[in-house]
Amino acid sequence: MTDAPIRADALVLFGITGNLAYKMLLPALYRLSAGGVLDLPIVGVAKTDLDLDGLRARARQACGDDVDEAAFAKFAGNLSLIAGDYADPATFAAVREATRDAGFVTHYLAIPPSLFATVAEGLAAEGLNADSRLVVEKPFGHDAASALALNEEMLRHFDEDHLRRVDHFLGKEPIEDLLVFRFGNMFLEPIWNRTVVKNVQITMAEDFDVSDRGSFYDANGTIRDVVQNHLLQILAILAMDAPPSRDARAFIDEKWRVLRAVRSPGPDDVVRGQYEGYLDTEGVRADSTTETYVAMRLFIDNWRWAGVPFYIRSGKALPETDLEVVAELVPPPVHLFDGDLQPNLIRFRIQPDAGITLDVLVKEPGQNSTRRIPLHVDFTKALGPMEAAYQRILADAVSGDPRRFVRFDLAEESWRIVQPLLNATTPPHPYPKGTWGPKAAESLTPWHPISTTFD
Ligand code: BG6
Repeated sequence: MTDAPIRADALVLFGITGNLAYKMLLPALYRLSAGGVLDLPIVGVAKTDLDLDGLRARARQACGDDVDEAAFAKFAGNLSLIAGDYADPATFAAVREATRDAGFVTHYLAIPPSLFATVAEGLAAEGLNADSRLVVEKPFGHDAASALALNEEMLRHFDEDHLRRVDHFLGKEPIEDLLVFRFGNMFLEPIWNRTVVKNVQITMAEDFDVSDRGSFYDANGTIRDVVQNHLLQILAILAMDAPPSRDARAFIDEKWRVLRAVRSPGPDDVVRGQYEGYLDTEGVRADSTTETYVAMRLFIDNWRWAGVPFYIRSGKALPETDLEVVAELVPPPVHLFDGDLQPNLIRFRIQPDAGITLDVLVKEPGQNSTRRIPLHVDFTKALGPMEAAYQRILADAVSGDPRRFVRFDLAEESWRIVQPLLNATTPPHPYPKGTWGPKAAESLTPWHPISTTFD
C-alpha cells in the first residue's frame, strides 16, 4: 500500500437484492448509519423487478425488530436503486450518473465471483475505475490457478491499492482479540513458541447441514469454503510475529510471512469426512466425494514454531456451532505432585460467547494432588456487546483501511497450502449427523473437548 486510502463519498452495492445483502449487508449498513458512522449515498445495483420503494421495504424487513424507525428512515433516504443487467453498458452509465457528485466511490460486489470481471469491465468502460475502489466478496478463486487468473482480470482495471478482498472473519472482534491478547499483554509472547506450546487446535464446528446450498457447497467443500480463507487467516494471526509498527501494511506483511512458512499437508495429515445423507441433498452429485468435514495437521517451518503441530478441523452437521482455539502447553519439567498432571490449556473462544479461558492446575483441597480449573472471562459480560463483523468490513470498505481485507499474496499463500488437498477423489469417511466427524480424525490427535459456556 503506497498512498493513504481515500474515504469514499458514496457506496455502490452490486447485488443489493441478493441473499448476502439481505442477511448481512443491509442490517450492518443500517446500524452503521444509525450509529452515526456512515452517512453517505448507497446506490444499489441489481437485476431486479423491485423499485426503490420495494428495496426500502426489503431493507426494513432485513433489519428485523430492533430498529429505530427515525434512524431507519434516514438510512432509507440514502438508498437508491439501479435495476439493470451487469452485461449492459446502460447499467454503468446509470451508476456514473448516480455517483456524479461523489469525489471517491467504493464499489462493493456482493455477487457471484463469475460476474466480478464483467462488473469490473463495465465500470472501467465508463471510467468508473478512476477515483474508486473495488471490494469483492469471497470466494476469491477456486484454486491457486483460478485465483491468479481472477486477480489478473481485476488488476486490468484496479490496482492492488484499490482492491479489497473480503473475508468477513477478519471483521470479527474476537479474532482481533487474538492480536490484542498476544501483543497488548506481556505474559503470553515469551512462552508463545515451540519451547512451551505443545500443539494448537483450531475447531470450527457447525451444527447445521448444507441445507439449500447443495450446488454451491458440492462444488467447493469444507477446505475451500472455510479452511483456505477463514481458518488460515486465524492461524496466521495466532502464529505471526509482532509487526514492527501499527500500520496495516506491517500487520499484513507479518501474516504473509508466517503463511509462507506453512508447509502443505501430506496425505497422512488430512482426514476428510462427509455426513451421512449429504448425497440426498438437492444440488449434490449422486457420487460426490466433496467433504463436509476436514481435519488436518499443519506445520510451520520457522524458528518459532518448527515441530509444533497446528490442527484445524471443521465440519457441517456436528453437535454444536462453535469456533474455538485451544493451545496445549508442555508439562512442567519435574513432576512434584501426586496424580496425573493435566496440561495447561489456553482457550480462545471466538464464537459464540467469545472469551478467554486459562485451564490451570491448583491444589486439590486436603491432598498433595492437583486439579485443573478454568480461569475464564466472557467478553460480552465483561465488556458489553461487540460489533457485527460486517459492520467493521463495510466501515472499512468505505474508509479504505486495508487491514481487515485479504491482500492477494495472502490469498495466494493460502491456496498454495491447501492446493494438494483440492479435488481429492478418494471417498471421504462417512459420519453420522450430530457427531464430531469421522473416527479417523482422532488418529491425527486427541482433540480437546470444546468448552461449553462457563458461568
Ligand atoms: C461462510 C461459509 O463463509 O462462513 C459458510 O461459506 C459458513 O459455510 C460461514 O457457515 C460461517 O460464518 P459465520 O460468520 O456465520 O461464523
